[in-house]
Amino acid sequence: MRIAASLYLALAASAAFLARPAAPASAQPAPITAATPPMGWNSWNFFAGKVTDKDIRAATDNLVATGMKDAGYVYVNIDDTWEGERDADGVLHTNSKFPDMKALADYVHSKGLKIGIYSGPGAKTCGGYAASLGHEEQDAKMYADWGIDYLKYDLCSYRSDVLDKQAPDDKPAQMRLMIAAYQKMGKALQSTGRPIVFSLCQYGWDAVWEWAPALGGNLWRTTGDINPRWDRIYAILSQQDGLAKYAGPGHWNDPDMLEVGNGKLSLQENWSHFAMWAMLAAPLLAGNDLPNMKPEIKAILTNPDVIAIDQDRLGHQAARAYSDGEVEVWTRHLSGGALAIAVLAAGDSRYSTHPFHLDLAKLGLHGPQKGKDLKTGQDITLTNNMPIEIQSHDTLLVRIPSPK
Ligand code: GLA
Repeated sequence: MRIAASLYLALAASAAFLARPAAPASAQPAPITAATPPMGWNSWNFFAGKVTDKDIRAATDNLVATGMKDAGYVYVNIDDTWEGERDADGVLHTNSKFPDMKALADYVHSKGLKIGIYSGPGAKTCGGYAASLGHEEQDAKMYADWGIDYLKYDLCSYRSDVLDKQAPDDKPAQMRLMIAAYQKMGKALQSTGRPIVFSLCQYGWDAVWEWAPALGGNLWRTTGDINPRWDRIYAILSQQDGLAKYAGPGHWNDPDMLEVGNGKLSLQENWSHFAMWAMLAAPLLAGNDLPNMKPEIKAILTNPDVIAIDQDRLGHQAARAYSDGEVEVWTRHLSGGALAIAVLAAGDSRYSTHPFHLDLAKLGLHGPQKGKDLKTGQDITLTNNMPIEIQSHDTLLVRIPSPK
C-alpha cells in the first residue's frame, strides 16, 4: 500500500512537471559558444599541407588515449589543404586526402570530440586551395550538414582577390571590405542554426579585437604566424600586453596555436609557452605529433592546474605587471579572488649566479603570499624581494588562492 502511494505521488509529481507549460524560448539564455577559450588540436603546426583523413583519425584516437580529451581538449581541427574543386553547382568537394568529410566528422563525434575545418574569404586559401569567395552561405551550410563545430577563416588571397582590386591604395576602404567579408561568413554560420565556433585569422589587422565580437567572432588571431622557436613565441607574447580587456567569455584573443612538443624547443621553452598561453586565456590548440608525444610533453599539455588557469570562468586575460631587465612578471585575476603570477626569464643568458628578486608591492601584494608552484605541484610562499632562481626561458608559475 505504501509502495502504491509513493508510486502514485511520484507519477503525480512527474505528470505535474510534464504538464507545466514550457518556458518561452526567449527565457532560456542560449549557451555561450566558447564560454572558455577553445581547447583541442589543429593539424597545421605539425602536418602542414600533408595532413590526411588518417592523421585526423589518429589525432582523434590519441586525444582519447592520452587523456588529453579528459583534460579538456575537445576540438580536432583540420587546417588548410583538405579542399578539392567546386562542381558546376558551386559545391566544394574534398580532395583525395579526405575521401568523406561527413564520415570523418561522424568518427570524431563518435569519440565524444568535436571537429573543426578551415577556409577563407578569398578565392584561395593560404595554401592555394579553393576558399569561400562568392560561396559563403553554400559553404557554411555544407559545414553544418557535415556536422562541423568550428571554422578557422583565413584572410589570405582576399587581399589580392578583393582588397587590392577593389580599393587599391585606400587602406581604410580595404579594411571596411575585410570586415564585411568576415561579417558575411559570421552571418552565414549563424543562419545554419548550428553552433559553430568562428575563428578569425587575419593576423590582427585593423585592431580586430575591437570589431570581431560584434560579428560573431569567438576568437581572432592577434599576430602573424607562430613557429617553434623561442624568439617567435616571445615576440608574439610581447604583442599581447594591452589586449586583456578585449578577452572574455565567448570572445578571445588568439596568439596562435601551440607549438608545445614541436621543433627544437627546450623543455623550459615548452613549459613557458604553455604557461604563458594559459595566462593569456589563449585558445589551447595543441599542434604536435600526438601518436609520438613524449611523456614530458604530455605532462605539460595535461597539467590540470595550468589548464584551470586558462579555463578560469571569469576569462580575465593576464597583463604584464612589470619587467625588470629580461625578467617579466605577469598577473591574472581568477575566480574566487585567486591570483596567478608568472615570472618569466625571457632573455637568453640568465644564470643562477644572479637570482631575480620579486617585488610584491609592484603586484599590489603585501607580506608573505602562500600558493602553489604549478610546475612542481609544491607549496610555495612568496616573500617580498625573495631571490628566485629561474633558468633562461623558464617560468615560475604560482597560484595564490587568497592574495593579500
Ligand atoms: C596561414 C595561417 C596558418 C595556417 C596557414 C595554412 O598562414 O596563419 O595558421 O592556417 O595559413 O595555409
